[in-house]
Amino acid sequence: MTAASLAGLRILVSAGPTYEDIDPARFLGNRSSGKMGFAIAAEAAQRGADVVLVAGPVHLPSPAQVRRVNVRSAAQMLVAVMKGLPCDVYIGAAAVADFTPRSCSPGKIKKQPGQDTLVLELVQTRDILAEVAAHAQRPRLVVGFAAETDNVAGYARGKLQRKRLDLICANQVGVAGTGFESDDNALLVIDADDERALGPAPKRALAGQLLDLIAERLA
Ligand code: C5P
Repeated sequence: MTAASLAGLRILVSAGPTYEDIDPARFLGNRSSGKMGFAIAAEAAQRGADVVLVAGPVHLPSPAQVRRVNVRSAAQMLVAVMKGLPCDVYIGAAAVADFTPRSCSPGKIKKQPGQDTLVLELVQTRDILAEVAAHAQRPRLVVGFAAETDNVAGYARGKLQRKRLDLICANQVGVAGTGFESDDNALLVIDADDERALGPAPKRALAGQLLDLIAERLA
């Protein structure tokens, strides 16, 4: 099968972790490497799409022919993604923080003598994916990711419905050779009435298979 052409399509991809600052020296982050989202952006651009990649803090080179916007926090990612609308397809591959410190301390937090605990107050972040799916300029396809440690298909299907997505790509984290820091991955791609297992395969090959599914749905 030849790779589906994506010429003429505007594809917006988010990738990587977000860092939520606690004070000038510390942050809350996560183990997302950004590799899956970068592979999707690279493959989509190679197939002729006009690609904007909103990237959290990662150490990855920019794919060829991709417009990259670097952000740090979930709040910054929300702003950058909204600026990327309208588009035909939004693929939310970023591991966005669900909670962020209520405030960032202006000075480095010091431990006090005899202090055993420190309570950080966290507030929920806005859900970028759900907001894109509910937007007046909703893309034709909104695709999410779900990293789960258990009940992968069940939780992912719940997110598909709750966030009003067209597709969700679920992967099991904590399995050697797939997921966050790995070069390979395996995905269960779920829509309202079907499930397709992709991989295990290198992330770039998997990106191609996912883009084939996306192109099929847009046709
Ligand atoms: O609910 P959960 O965080 O597991 O959902 C994962 C999906 O939602 C990913 O596609 C992620 O990019 C997106 N997400 C988001 N904004 C958030 C939290 C998650 O866009 N604040």
